[in-house]
Amino acid sequence: MKICCLGAGYVGGPTMAMIAYKCPDITVTVADINEARINAWNSDELPVFEPGLDEVVHAARGRNLFFTTDKVTAIKEADIIFVSVGTPTKTYGAGAGKAADLKYIELCARDIAQYSDRSKIVVEKSTLPVRTAQGLKTVLEANSTPGLDFQVLSNPEFLAEGTAIEDLSKPDRVLIGGDEDSEAGRKAIQTLVDVYANWVDRDRIITTNLWSSELSKLVANAFLAQRISSINSISALCERTGANVDQVAYAIGTDSRIGPKFLKASVGFGGSCFQKDILNLVYLCEYFGLPDVAAYWEQVIVMNDWQKSRFSQKIVSTLFNTVNGKRIAMLGFAFKKDTNDTRETAAMYVGRDLLDEQAVLAIHDPKVSPEQMFKDLKESRTDADGNPNKQIDVCEDPYAAAKGAHGLAIMTEWDSFKDLDFQKIYDGMYKPAFVFDGRNILDHEKLRKIGFEVFAIGR
Ligand code: UDX
Ligand code: UDX
Ligand code: ADP
Repeated sequence: MKICCLGAGYVGGPTMAMIAYKCPDITVTVADINEARINAWNSDELPVFEPGLDEVVHAARGRNLFFTTDKVTAIKEADIIFVSVGTPTKTYGAGAGKAADLKYIELCARDIAQYSDRSKIVVEKSTLPVRTAQGLKTVLEANSTPGLDFQVLSNPEFLAEGTAIEDLSKPDRVLIGGDEDSEAGRKAIQTLVDVYANWVDRDRIITTNLWSSELSKLVANAFLAQRISSINSISALCERTGANVDQVAYAIGTDSRIGPKFLKASVGFGGSCFQKDILNLVYLCEYFGLPDVAAYWEQVIVMNDWQKSRFSQKIVSTLFNTVNGKRIAMLGFAFKKDTNDTRETAAMYVGRDLLDEQAVLAIHDPKVSPEQMFKDLKESRTDADGNPNKQIDVCEDPYAAAKGAHGLAIMTEWDSFKDLDFQKIYDGMYKPAFVFDGRNILDHEKLRKIGFEVFAIGR
């Protein structure tokens, strides 16, 4: 059997690597139009940082895992074609700011139709609005050689970044949606079930109709994000009342009906999925004439935006209502630990707020490149005269970032931040020295003993 995947991004790359790793009899080819990305997948410096990914790629690459820019051959040879291209939020036209932009998906469908000379299974891996499969099928059928059959399946990916390899090798469930009402549809579903059954227990492989599968992915992300916005809303109340949000989260999380996960109060959720998928859900609800349902879910985003701006306001008000010219050390820039991904990271929004207030940002992140930080902050590295940007100092070392700072903000929960020598950091900072722990990972009592003024979320 031959599998191909269009799109070698955060989802397509690791997912296909795992399939190849677990199924030596299947040839897996990942095709992307971005040559630099494909070159990186073929090098020792993979374009995605994920613990354990290097080992999986090294074991399978060249054996039954291939990365290429030649999508034509990849499509022609494949029995199953995964589509894992980006579905960013539309920035133009109807649904701008909410709906998913399906341009790249449609281009893939047209490629598949054009280059296929036999029937194939086409799998939506990207997160898509409900009923996209119908559009995909229509484009495939209208543009392909008559008589060919394209079975469209939905197989959303639930992996989280930073734990991709663990999530892929031991998934809570695999979800496969297809046309359950036809013989060909059931056969296609079974073909994909058999691929995953090489390493996933059958009872964890869920099959549904197409629309349930497409919708479940959006709803799973909406529910997860909702839990974070819920606990973050309570964090504000805790700060006013003297309750401790981590104690509250623990107390409610022990109720087996609520459960302990995704209740960590923070400076706000980020990542490529949560906001995008909720906006998409909101758009769908509006489209289908359900404004009350749309408003309900939109509030999850409103609360998250509020949490981020509340944090930057707290920094400014605590530093005597001005950060103009003051150095603020930002530890962490990625949207969570163990990834170099900065999409929708809270650090970017807090950073922009502080730059507007004329602060000097000294940013340290163990994995994020300076180029990415400048891009996200919408700043250039040099001014018109070619002098370095004086408002942003990217530091390789957290101590250097903190040196001469008035405040230190923890933006990402990197483990390495817990073990820093805070006495050394304190000694190098202006007094009073403020810590804003946006992730509640530090030992606040210890910091206060050293002399820091500590602000934590929900305490
Ligand atoms: C609730 C809490 O569960 C309990 O911990 C607290 O001490 C008191 O309030 P109770 O009101 O007795 O208990 O019933 P519960 O089983 O929680 O149901 C509350 C309502 O939610 C019922 O009308 C029930 O039908 C409804 N419900 C519950 C749903 O509609 N869907 C569900 O999935 C669960
Ligand atoms: C998420 C979903 O978890 C995954 O199933 C889906 O496939 C893609 O979207 P991801 O965005 O990689 O994965 O990361 P996740 O671990 O869910 O974290 C998202 C954001 O929420 C991060 O910014 C994280 O710091 C934040 N978060 C998470 C909290 O603030 N508190 C929590 O308790 C959990
Ligand atoms: P995700 O997080 O969903 O994996 P990414 O943006 O990381 O999204 O990856 C999507 C990838 O899809 C990019 O590398 C992009 O170059 C690739 N891509 C976009 N359009 C096509 C296409 N028509 N054929 C092949 N690859 C494509």
